[in-house]
Amino acid sequence: MPTFGRSFLSHWWLDPAITYLNHGTVGATPRAVLEAQHAWQRRIEAQPAAFLFRQLMRLTPDDAAAPRPLLRQAADSVGAFIGAPGDDLVFVDNASTGVNAVLRSIALRPGDEIVVLDQAYGAVIKAAEFVARGVGAKVVVAATPFPVQGDPTEAYADAVERALTPRTRLAILDHISSHTALTLPVAAMTARCRARGVPVLIDGAHAPGAIDLDVAAFGADWYVGNLHKWAFAPRACGFLWVASTQRAATHPPTISWGLDVGLTQEFDWTGTRDPSPMLCAPDGIAFMRDVLGLDAMRAWNHDLVWRMAHELSARWGQPFTTLESMVGCMASVALPERIDQLGEAAAPALKDWLFHERRIEAQVLAIDGHVCVRLAAQVYNDESDYERLADAVDEWPA
Ligand SMILES: Cc1ncc(COP(=O)(O)O)c(C=O)c1O
Repeated sequence: MPTFGRSFLSHWWLDPAITYLNHGTVGATPRAVLEAQHAWQRRIEAQPAAFLFRQLMRLTPDDAAAPRPLLRQAADSVGAFIGAPGDDLVFVDNASTGVNAVLRSIALRPGDEIVVLDQAYGAVIKAAEFVARGVGAKVVVAATPFPVQGDPTEAYADAVERALTPRTRLAILDHISSHTALTLPVAAMTARCRARGVPVLIDGAHAPGAIDLDVAAFGADWYVGNLHKWAFAPRACGFLWVASTQRAATHPPTISWGLDVGLTQEFDWTGTRDPSPMLCAPDGIAFMRDVLGLDAMRAWNHDLVWRMAHELSARWGQPFTTLESMVGCMASVALPERIDQLGEAAAPALKDWLFHERRIEAQVLAIDGHVCVRLAAQVYNDESDYERLADAVDEWPA
């Protein structure tokens, strides 16, 4: 395995004076991918109208004889990476947009229910609540086991099933939970929903790049993922995979010229925008494969965060009981009792202090009332970054 670490910062524009332990939050784009993006932008600006309307996408139904539009070619590359034909996925700006597309596409009636996990991303819950309240439907929060004792597969599937009722119209299931940073058994949870006839949207905002992915294998109706987090696409770039049974019913939140032509036409043009992040999605994938090595990158990130989660927990006198199978490139660790007893307000205070006083970017958050830090590991991190964090936490004067 190659030795990654701080020397790899040279592949990014990240300020080396900052200890960057929060790759998961908005990603960080490698220089090589940004250069590819600038090349696309120069090509677009040479003839913007021709590029956007003649090369990028096609608003008419597919004509097999015509050259494949550039956005579809990019979708083909992403599809090959996530286990799906390119035309089964569409680009969206981010996971939030993909979630909103699905929420706006389901037919809800008063009294209907949308199930979300209690570990769901807050903004996703808000989007579900907004759509539900507009029609007199409601959001039901499934209580999931955390910390997990024993085999998580059955425990999580049971937890989701308990939240389903005959009024459930959609279940949104997290693949990698945001705060707790757990890789959840989405296939088992999805199977329980599908057995009850409940459509499933998997929120995989953190999954592409971080873990191996075969989106079609989960049996869900939709899978949304970000490519700008762990797959190194420029911001903003995500995708929405749509099962064939849902293609006709799925629409983007912004309706434009492609309405009623087909899924890909609807999403490939949602009004004038900069398509360069999406066109560079293949460059992010190539960076992982050809520059870092996909397996080597994942092995480094997982091994580093797993070891550091144990080391910091031990140093802070806290248990770390998360199963290794549930850890990808991030792990949430409880902070020392001295900080925990200050209550949830300590989380933003410590996060700000680390940033302003120690130049450490780390995600400090409250989980079930406990103050935790979500450690992220990327190839530009090494042990020294986490040691700086641990030293700084010890020095926090609060
Ligand atoms: C689980 C989950 N879902 C959705 C999102 C939203 O992602 P974005 O802000 O790129 O739309 C995030 C962001 O971190 C997330 O962690």
